[in-house]
Amino acid sequence: MTRLRTAIDDLGDATGEETGALLLAAARHAVTYRTAPRARQRAEATYGQSVAAFDDALPEDGETAEQVLDQLVRRAVPGLHAATGPRFFGWVIGNSHPVGVAADWLTAAWGQNTANHVAAPAAAAAETVAARWLLEVLRLPAESAVGFVTGATMASFVGLAAARGEVLRRAGWDVEAQGLFGAPPVRVLIGDEAHASVYSALHYLGFGKASLLRVASNAQGVMCPDAFAERLARDVPPGAPLIVVTQAGHVHTGATDAHERIVPLARARGGWVHVDGAFGLWARACPAHAPLAHGVEGADSWATDGHKWLQTPFDCGYVIVRDAGAHRRAMTIAASYLPPVSEHERDPSHYVPELSRRARGFATWALLRHFGSKGIAAMVARHCAQARLLAAGLAAEPGITVLNEVVLNQVAVRFGADGDGATGDALTRAAIAALQEDGTCFAGGAKWRGRWIMRLSVIGFSTTDDDIRLSAQAIIAAWRRVASTAAAS
Ligand SMILES: Cc1ncc(COP(=O)(O)O)c(C=O)c1O
Repeated sequence: MTRLRTAIDDLGDATGEETGALLLAAARHAVTYRTAPRARQRAEATYGQSVAAFDDALPEDGETAEQVLDQLVRRAVPGLHAATGPRFFGWVIGNSHPVGVAADWLTAAWGQNTANHVAAPAAAAAETVAARWLLEVLRLPAESAVGFVTGATMASFVGLAAARGEVLRRAGWDVEAQGLFGAPPVRVLIGDEAHASVYSALHYLGFGKASLLRVASNAQGVMCPDAFAERLARDVPPGAPLIVVTQAGHVHTGATDAHERIVPLARARGGWVHVDGAFGLWARACPAHAPLAHGVEGADSWATDGHKWLQTPFDCGYVIVRDAGAHRRAMTIAASYLPPVSEHERDPSHYVPELSRRARGFATWALLRHFGSKGIAAMVARHCAQARLLAAGLAAEPGITVLNEVVLNQVAVRFGADGDGATGDALTRAAIAALQEDGTCFAGGAKWRGRWIMRLSVIGFSTTDDDIRLSAQAIIAAWRRVASTAAAS
């Protein structure tokens, strides 16, 4: 900070001083936010309270930059969850690592439009190199193309757009030219517990939910390979265009589909396999956990996130497509005022739905460089061990059941007596509310297989084993309060 302040003080011209003072003030607010201890991990203000805090009439006269910044901080901070903290286990959210945040500040300050390599040479170059590093760290085919998107939802959208184009092209239909009406039917096989975002990506592409061939899941929420083989044999005519959607990392259990069985079956039918690996694909970056995602490398496209296990700030996801030509056919935007691209150059917009966009390659490059492949492997291994530690601590308490086999970083927990339907739901929801009220750590809930669960995702770089122990104690204490109230009523 002192060095930064000196650098700002040294700025010569008046505009520079003003800009410098503003950016330094923003940095101060950010540092205060990131370093101040907080009593509770959940936001203190609800959505409604936050709307009330922001909700003024549109000002006619503008305010000074300093006033605006102060107002923003004052109104926003109460409504911020501690998603960058060590005991935040809600949804699946990385910690927005300071190295990524710093790179992202520069990204915003540099203001590059990352559409193409002429408009933004450095931004395009950072993506080119970060793309290569991603393929290396995730152990995916080196010839693949990579698009830097907002997250895994858009990554699946792009991967499945490439899939749709290619399987139809093989059937003699050019979907990019002819559209979907009148096209040969594409069969899409998907696990019945695939992530909701993949179903959304499919319906954006014209594959409505009712048209999908769903495959039954096992107790961990991933496809039963036998059920997959049966559905393929029964419902997909030989030669029909085929897309198979698998997952690496079920959102509640962390389990991964049996790719070593599913991929060869799909390939034997000429199918395209797309993997939703929003966080689970990162198991491949860790030698100890890579076997979980064995066979994934045989697929055709992969969706994953930077803002989960790589800890980039929001938003950042990656779509990886083995057939770079199919990827480009699905996404390229061409116009006479946009520069041509030679085989030695790469235009970021040829791999994503947007033309103008943020330079996500800078933060990705910075974090891959900061962690190194060994650092990522160690972080994934640590989170998986911490998830097991948390699960073991909770399972030892009467009335708490860990429902999943903790193979990765996700823990699904149920409260109350086993088989206790509606009562167990009520107790589980009450335990989640009690934990959030206490605030030592944060966990959310979900309805899984007809029953409410507490979901815990260990994925923040800053979580220590002590944080896990403290969190287990807090969850147990919340549960005891709920159980004793229930017993008394
Ligand atoms: C398994 C899985 N797939 C897809 C997604 C969607 O990712 P995003 O929110 O980055 O679009 C998530 C988000 O948690 C997820 O866990």
